[in-house]
Amino acid sequence: MVSDASRWNEKYAAASLAPMLRVEPLLESHQRDIDGLLTPRTALDVAAGTCHAAVYLAKRGLHATALDCSAVGLALGEQLAKREGVAIETVTADLAVTELPGGPWSVVCCFRYLDRNLFPQMAAGLAPGGLLFYRTFNVHHLKKATAFNPEYVLQPGELAREFSTLEIRSLSDGDDPGENTSWIAARQPA
Ligand SMILES: C[S@@+](CC[C@H](N)C(=O)[O-])C[C@H]1O[C@@H](n2cnc3c(N)ncnc32)[C@H](O)[C@@H]1O
Repeated sequence: MVSDASRWNEKYAAASLAPMLRVEPLLESHQRDIDGLLTPRTALDVAAGTCHAAVYLAKRGLHATALDCSAVGLALGEQLAKREGVAIETVTADLAVTELPGGPWSVVCCFRYLDRNLFPQMAAGLAPGGLLFYRTFNVHHLKKATAFNPEYVLQPGELAREFSTLEIRSLSDGDDPGENTSWIAARQPA
């Protein structure tokens, strides 16, 4: 069987450095919360790909770590960080066999990646007052993306249930059939 790392390395090998930093709207809409974070001001971008979220967080002054199974994607991320004038840490790790690096993290974020085993680790890794940002495809995505693996979509209500120990700052949890992603921004109680 082809590993996740081989598949994604091949995909990223065919890519080039993005012409612009892609700012994730969920992060941008909580920019004031991010800017107001206290120490340690560390951030973990889970399944970071080419590290756009990590680079954005580094530009907001956080010590950002980008983790992905694809060393090729992370290398593009390091180039992106350099071009944007910031430094990020990168960690090449396969989350199918590795736990998330221990925090405490001021921010844990994850975009367009679903491994339900990670949910408790994401919440537990947050520092008191730390922020979780998570967005990925939900069940409504399958209406158009018929080849998409149904195991990798969120069910309605899943995020609120899985992150019930956190204080929700914003949530879209699959109630709207016209919205093909679900997202949550939530805070670890201080
Ligand atoms: C759709 S991309 C999303 C990348 C990035 N978060 C974004 O939104 O642009 C999914 C990412 O998950 C990573 N990934 C897939 N399986 C993984 C695994 N087992 N361990 C770590 N990363 C994995 C891939 O390398 C890829 O970068």
